[in-house]
Amino acid sequence: MTVKEKLIGLLEKKKGEFVSGEEIASGIGCTRSAVWKAIKILESEGYSIEAVTNKGYRLMDNNDVITADGVKKYINNNFINDIIVYKTIDSTNIKLKEAAAAGAREGTVIISGEQTAGRGRLGRNFYSPSDTGLYMSLLLRPSISASEAIKITTAAASATAEVIEEISGKKTEIKWVNDVYMDGKKICGILTEAALDMEYGVLEYAVLGIGINTYEPEGGFPDTIKNIAGAVFDMKKSDMRNRIAAGVLNRFINYYNELEQNTYYKSYSDRIMWIGKEIKIISPSEIKKAVLIGIDKNCRLIVRYENGEEDIVSSGEISIREDKQ
Ligand code: BTN
Repeated sequence: MTVKEKLIGLLEKKKGEFVSGEEIASGIGCTRSAVWKAIKILESEGYSIEAVTNKGYRLMDNNDVITADGVKKYINNNFINDIIVYKTIDSTNIKLKEAAAAGAREGTVIISGEQTAGRGRLGRNFYSPSDTGLYMSLLLRPSISASEAIKITTAAASATAEVIEEISGKKTEIKWVNDVYMDGKKICGILTEAALDMEYGVLEYAVLGIGINTYEPEGGFPDTIKNIAGAVFDMKKSDMRNRIAAGVLNRFINYYNELEQNTYYKSYSDRIMWIGKEIKIISPSEIKKAVLIGIDKNCRLIVRYENGEEDIVSSGEISIREDKQ
């Protein structure tokens, strides 16, 4: 363990209390100057540490820094193995796809506190500012066909919605197929990207990417998305993003292990927005109006068009909007 790791462990144990430089140095077996250097590194990683002459150092209550150990301490299964955390990266999905192609193990996780080229569905980008969000990708090597891959996204939406509700105490909804909403605003997007084994028609790997707007970015969301995007919390909470990351991974793995049985289905369909309402089904070639009747076991939309005909719509290049007029 490095001095920095020992130091954060000690400060966390004594959270809220001052610990003198001398006590830290003797506690972790290093010099006071090594303690000072480690404090500077922790601060550069985003920890708030109060330093007062003659008293020492105190870890503030509102630290919410994502670390591999911080996530691991809440993980309750052996599925998740390597957790790699970046402060900033282009996209956790891109990085994990590279790792997958190079042979990384199922259960590898990449998390970042910021993405400079976050990827969204339908070729859009996903706004991923620093320190306020959780951007996470999980590598899966499932033995399912490409047509079943949608279940990874929908199971992840259920897992994320449940964990956010549990931690925040507020209700969430799911906008088919992959967006989690709270108070009418999108707080999470999910993008699963897969590579196909052409010979066997099964997935070679799938990278499940989840982006959660944990807090509102400083200065708010950009004008282009401010009417749609929201955040789970309005104030920073201690260790929150590590808890959410692990909670979502734990819950998702349970569903993933039972993907064939669709155990997540009730959680998913119970949260679907606009059931019974008029919606617009938007594909690259047309926009159709319909009433949303529900979701079938394969998480496809069951809709009724204006002419009374019923149809089943699967995700592909389609998105939906409420038809308010
Ligand atoms: C969407 O809303 O269209 C999907 C957004 C998915 C964003 C997540 S953030 C972590 C992972 N890395 C990415 O580049 N995208 C996904």
